[in-house]
Amino acid sequence: MTVVSVLNYKGGVGKTTVAANLAGEIAYRGRTVLLIDMDPQASLTLSFYPADEFAKEFSDGGTLLHWFEAILHHQDPRPLREFVVTPPRVNERVQRGGGRLDLIPSHLGLIDIDLDLAAYVGGSRFDVSSSGYLWVHRLLADALEDPAFAEYDVVIIDCAPNFNMITRTAVVASDQILIPAKADYLSTLGIDYLRRKVAELVRDYNEVAGDKGGIAIAPELLGIVFTMIQHAADGPIIAARNYVTHTEQYGVPVFRQMIRESKTLFATAGERGIPAVLLPNANPNVQYELVELATEFLTRIAVESTK
Ligand SMILES: Nc1ncnc2c1ncn2[C@@H]1O[C@H](COP(=O)(O)OP(=O)(O)OP(=O)(O)O)[C@@H](O)[C@H]1O
Ligand SMILES: [Mg+2]
Repeated sequence: MTVVSVLNYKGGVGKTTVAANLAGEIAYRGRTVLLIDMDPQASLTLSFYPADEFAKEFSDGGTLLHWFEAILHHQDPRPLREFVVTPPRVNERVQRGGGRLDLIPSHLGLIDIDLDLAAYVGGSRFDVSSSGYLWVHRLLADALEDPAFAEYDVVIIDCAPNFNMITRTAVVASDQILIPAKADYLSTLGIDYLRRKVAELVRDYNEVAGDKGGIAIAPELLGIVFTMIQHAADGPIIAARNYVTHTEQYGVPVFRQMIRESKTLFATAGERGIPAVLLPNANPNVQYELVELATEFLTRIAVESTK
């Protein structure tokens, strides 16, 4: 099992879209994939379940919010595996290849949990001397050690556009970090900052873990995926290509495969409960890019592709 966080504190860069499409395509190829929606906006959850279905089935007790709540209220929490659901529409398509796509849903109320968790680590400073530092940071990592999760080939975590406590638990639980980004000036500037924030967390965490006899973590930056690339007749527009080249200087790997901008395809995908890559009769150029991205992703995380 490989755990990958999809991370960028910048909003609207394609994190959720990349997470959903990678998971959809990898499951379609016969793999078992778990998505964890760690963003209070719950966009990932709502791209697999219509809002009314979500409200009826999970919003009262079946989301990550409820798992965290029980932990914070010192109740005996239900194990995380009991929050896993199998969204029906996407799995109708995916199961033809023998794979499965599962999800742990999110909830808007998760935003308050972030503040509650931060209180255990001295608020927004994430103070390494707090007695709860390791415990809070390891909440997700420890939960994923449940043998029930060993059946997944890949776990993909969709993070909120911030570097708050819940996002930090995702980083601590991850083997790899995937960074979707737009190819524009501000986005490429932000990548270096993000790289430093991750390095700082890993350094602080390992310092505390070292003192307390805990296990060190070493999440790797898997790479940057450029999304929403504007195309001209001969491929990506020059400005986009320049920002990609510029980003390569930060020393973070860049995925060869980029995803072009396609407002129509991605706008309708969510409403249908199926990621764009698996929609019938969709824009073949974009779908080809998403398929190739999945192949490159699997190669980079060294999971064999079965198709
Ligand atoms: N390649 C693309 N072309 C056009 N639109 C896209 C593309 N990828 C994503 N979008 C659209 O852009 C919006 C933002 O995408 P998405 O939700 O994946 O970003 P995000 O980084 O997860 O955002 P947030 O930070 O709010 O979680 C969505 O409406 C999505 O449908
Ligand atoms: Mg998102």
